[in-house]
Amino acid sequence: TAGRDDPPLLSGRRVVVSAGPTYEDIDPVRYLGNRSSGKMGFALAAAAHAMGAEVVLVAGPVQLPTPAGVTRVDVRSAAQMRAAVLEAVGEGADLYVGAAAVADYAPTQGADHKLKKSSPTLTLELARTPDILAEVAQRAPRPRLVVGFAAETHDLAAYARGKLYAKQVDLIAANLVGGGDSAFEGEHNALHVFWPEGETEIARAPKPVVARRLLALLAERLGAAP
Ligand code: CTP
Ligand code: CA
Repeated sequence: TAGRDDPPLLSGRRVVVSAGPTYEDIDPVRYLGNRSSGKMGFALAAAAHAMGAEVVLVAGPVQLPTPAGVTRVDVRSAAQMRAAVLEAVGEGADLYVGAAAVADYAPTQGADHKLKKSSPTLTLELARTPDILAEVAQRAPRPRLVVGFAAETHDLAAYARGKLYAKQVDLIAANLVGGGDSAFEGEHNALHVFWPEGETEIARAPKPVVARRLLALLAERLGAAP
């Protein structure tokens, strides 16, 4: 895990990381969620701190300890995550890493009372949530480096490159989800990293190791930027 021996590749850098799922409430006792464990985002926050960065971690609903030295902001919904991320980034960040599995849709009307099973079918109306990553990438001023994750079950490269261009982010770290010790829930991860003029692979390893390798790559790109 991250420790005092990490080279200070990010010293003086301000880093904002989002992590975990979001929960979109249907009524006071039910929600729409996803299987994100938050471990990759938490590992990134811990590693960024160990590499000398000042780190804000915007965390969806997960039961994980806050990494030492990291400022944590807990949120529940995509709307709350957007507000917290924009506030943290607005204070001036060099790097934003969107590692959260943000819900793509949320109920248009969260009920303030528990829904009763009155009819044999129930239709929920859902509306698209704001795309936090695209918003961070496309507003001014923006962090020098904006990095997204892409969770795909198939056609990884095509979808990841599509997201790179559609969202105008600097780099996409893609992983295959679904299956055994999957990227979403497991302790390990492997990444295929894409940027406009190149790509590289980070081999399957424990998430803290993958986090350090990805941040080393990002630190190099931050150092190279004007
Ligand atoms: N993301 C975000 N806000 C959303 C949805 C996604 O910031 N409302 C970010 C995620 O944090 C991730 C990246 O966008 O960094 C890609 O998320 P992913 O779910 O793979 O892609 P989507 O753009 O949501 O497209 P789809 O789910 O259809 O593949
Ligand atoms: Ca999505």
